[in-house]
Formats: sequence, C-alpha cells, structure tokens
Amino acid sequence: MEKDKKVIFSGIQASGLLTLGNYIGALRNWTKLQADYDCVFGIMDLHSITVRQDPAAFRKRSLEILTLYIASGIDCERNILFFQSHVPAHAELAWTLGCYAYMGELSRMTQFKDKSARHAENINSGLFTYPVLMAADILLYQADLVPVGMDQKQHLELSRDLALRFNGIYGDVFTVPEAYIGKVGARIMSLQEPTRKMSKSDENPNGYIAMLDDPDTILRKIKRAVTDSGGEVAYREGKDGVNNLLGIYCAVTDTTIEQAERAFEGKGYGDFKAAVGEAVVECLRPVQERYRDLSNNKDYVESVYRAGAERAGRTAAKTLRKVYRKIGFTDR
Ligand code: TRP
Repeated sequence: MEKDKKVIFSGIQASGLLTLGNYIGALRNWTKLQADYDCVFGIMDLHSITVRQDPAAFRKRSLEILTLYIASGIDCERNILFFQSHVPAHAELAWTLGCYAYMGELSRMTQFKDKSARHAENINSGLFTYPVLMAADILLYQADLVPVGMDQKQHLELSRDLALRFNGIYGDVFTVPEAYIGKVGARIMSLQEPTRKMSKSDENPNGYIAMLDDPDTILRKIKRAVTDSGGEVAYREGKDGVNNLLGIYCAVTDTTIEQAERAFEGKGYGDFKAAVGEAVVECLRPVQERYRDLSNNKDYVESVYRAGAERAGRTAAKTLRKVYRKIGFTDR
C-alpha cells in the first residue's frame, strides 16, 4: 500500500442479508472514501460464528456480500476486499491481544451484554472476545480511521485502549485508530420498530429492505411501514416512523429534510410512502443490475477475493511479525 494516504479499515459481519441500512450507512460511504484513502474492506466471517450458522447458507451469503461490495462501486483494484477467514493473522493477533485485554473491560461491552441476553442458550466465549478480534482486524492494517456506526463506538474505543496499552509496553507497534462516524441523519431504522436500527438479523423481513429485494417487495414493505395516526409528512419528535421514512428518502435522493417536507406538503402518508418506495427502488436499481452481471461472472468474483486475501495477508503478516518479535517469540 502507498504510504502517503491514510489507511481506512472497515467491515460488515456476514450474518444476514445486507440491507438498505448497510448500503446507506456503510457501502455507499465507503465508495466516497476510496479516492482519498487506502481502504481495506473485510467481510467479517470469523465474527459471524459467535452465532450458529447453517454452513451452506453461510457460504452463499458470504459470497453474496462480497459481490454486493463490488456491485456498490468499491474499486477492488484500488482497495483491498477480502474474507477475514482467509487471512490467518486475524485469529493469531486476536489470541495475542486477548492476553492484554482484561475480563473487566470486556464485561462492560454493551453489545456483549445485549447479545448474551438475547442468546441465553449460547453465551460462548467468542461472543465475549468478539471485540478483541475486531481490534485485531483494525490494528493489523495500521488503520488510521475506522468508519463504523454508533453501535460500534465502544468496540473501537477498546481497540484504541489495546493499541495504546501494547505500545506502552513495547514501543510504537500499532497506529492508534480513530472512529469515523458518518452523518447522524444516515442512521436507517427498522420499518416496523422505528426506534431500533434496521437490522439484517431481524426476524421480521418487513422491518428491513434487503439490498437485493425486488421492486415490488420494496414498495410493499415501505407501504406497510409503521407511521402514526397523524397525517402530516413532517420531521417531529415522537414521529419515529415518519422521521425514518423521511431520513430514507433524503438519503436515497440526496435532499435535505426541509426540501422533502416541502415536496410532501399537503400530501398524505399514502403518496409519501409510494414516493419513498420509488426512490429506494431507483437508488438500488444500478447496484442490483451490477450484482446480476457479477453473479454471472463467478471467476471474476473469485479472482477479487483471492487477490484481496493475498494483499491483505501481506500487510497483516508484516504487522504480526513485528508484534511477535516485540513479545519475544523465537524467529522462524
Ligand atoms: N463488529 C462490526 C459490526 O458488527 C463488524 C466488524 C468486525 C468491524 N470487525 C471490524 C467493523 C473492524 C469495523 C472494523 O458492525
């Protein structure tokens, strides 16, 4: 990688269909960063197995996510796209960092507390050490910036703490990463429970729009979206459903809330929802078209992740070698 640009690392866990939220909140933003930064984008499949996965579905979905990265316009020549499980240094550095992370700080992670409450039947130790693996992901590439949603901020803070702790003992080994939080307005919520984030692991498919939903499905889901008993298309406290739809509309049409409110003045929720639906369909259409082309070109997609694993592997191995030497492991 060139040294004159800052390094960005980010990734999405491969645990469900990618949604409109992933597109607006992550993928589309990543395409805007690629001109100014050296970017490494992973499909975080090691993280996915903290929850039991069906092997065939998992394999299929992981490839689908990689294909969607490319279809969204991430340039795989300029950036590195790879599967986390293809680069063994992630697991190796995670073990190492785990020996520098305290039980206490990991116990305080709100996502661990939430997930263990939701999966009471399978509170495995991977769920607990999940943020250590995430720190390894980031630190291996000496990333300066990490675009993440608000829900990952605490994990990023831990990555910084671990980097600082390690550097404090052994000298400058890791770049201390910073969170790169996108615009607040870009947060896309569930269509059915608009106080919760739109999630790819939502059991109710009406709560989210998958990036590959066909136009009819998109229109139908938006039509069914929860609103309120009022009738005014306006952004107001307490109107979570309408606010979310307005947010979606603005994100996909690149307009401001004020412009949108003006456009729908005097119109009812029916017209509004139809317009939001159409706008989402148009926004996803080119991505879906590229996705279909890429799906017919499996060799190409395979060449992307193979090359990605090799390039990522080289950078990651370099950092890991440095870490091992500092710790005092015998040179191979
Ligand atoms: N935990 C992140 C999420 O659920 C995914 C992730 C794993 C990640 N490793 C990362 C994001 C490293 C940024 C950097 O969204």
